[in-house]
Amino acid sequence: MDAILKHRSIRKFKPSTVDKALLEGLLLAGTRAANTGNMQVYSMVVTTDPLLLEKLAPCHFNQPASKAPVQVTFCADYNRFVKWCLQRNAQPGFNNFLSFLVGYGDAFLAAQNVCLAAEEKGLGTCFLGTTMYSAKKVSEILRLPKGVIPVLTLVMGYPDEQPDLTDRLPMGGVVHWQTYADYSAEDIDRMYREKESSALTKHLLEVNKKETLAQIFTANRYPKKMNEDISAALIEMLKEQDFL
Ligand SMILES: Cc1cc2nc3c(=O)[nH]c(=O)nc-3n(C[C@H](O)[C@H](O)[C@H](O)COP(=O)(O)O)c2cc1C
Repeated sequence: MDAILKHRSIRKFKPSTVDKALLEGLLLAGTRAANTGNMQVYSMVVTTDPLLLEKLAPCHFNQPASKAPVQVTFCADYNRFVKWCLQRNAQPGFNNFLSFLVGYGDAFLAAQNVCLAAEEKGLGTCFLGTTMYSAKKVSEILRLPKGVIPVLTLVMGYPDEQPDLTDRLPMGGVVHWQTYADYSAEDIDRMYREKESSALTKHLLEVNKKETLAQIFTANRYPKKMNEDISAALIEMLKEQDFL
């Protein structure tokens, strides 16, 4: 539990490689995650080849963490399970949105296990959500077959930075006991106060010339148009892959 409370994302890594046996141990920890029906409808694609890493970097907008020496792309994967069903005279019914969500959720749980195991072994990690933004390109580079959709990347390596813990909302901002207690305007003010008054927020407001931190989230980091375009591309991909 102590290790979990010390989690922080690392985005700058030493060039040193990660021992293969160590890496295999981390991936094993990934497979021990709870998963729906024990079907394991996910795959972990490990990339350490510098040429492939170079090809993947633009899919992650060349962000600093995309330079990590080890990258694991977690995929919702029905390819293997459906093949097994068909080979065993069983008719699979996984061409639907629910099944994609099952694979997506299980892939995330496996990824979190790998992340925690890696941190326990002194490695730094960072998740990259850009995998889903560039799902088609990532699929091409990693040669993913039909039924396999990349949903998240976990990059790792030996840390070359020691960032502070990032803030979190107060517990009352996230936890509801028994039933959901909706937030008053005063609650919202209180819960976001620490985040809004940090030095980092002040810096971001200056650099982005915005009045509030929320505006940075809605206008700069996750703008409506970008969310809609990525959603449309994902829906298209889910259709091509017969999930929708
Ligand atoms: C699904 C997901 C996607 C993320 N995508 C990115 C990303 O693309 N780039 C990045 O630098 N960090 C990414 N992160 C890391 C978050 O920014 C980070 O966890 C958050 O700011 C809290 O900081 P901490 O992990 O240091 O506590 C992602 C995290 C998750 C869970």
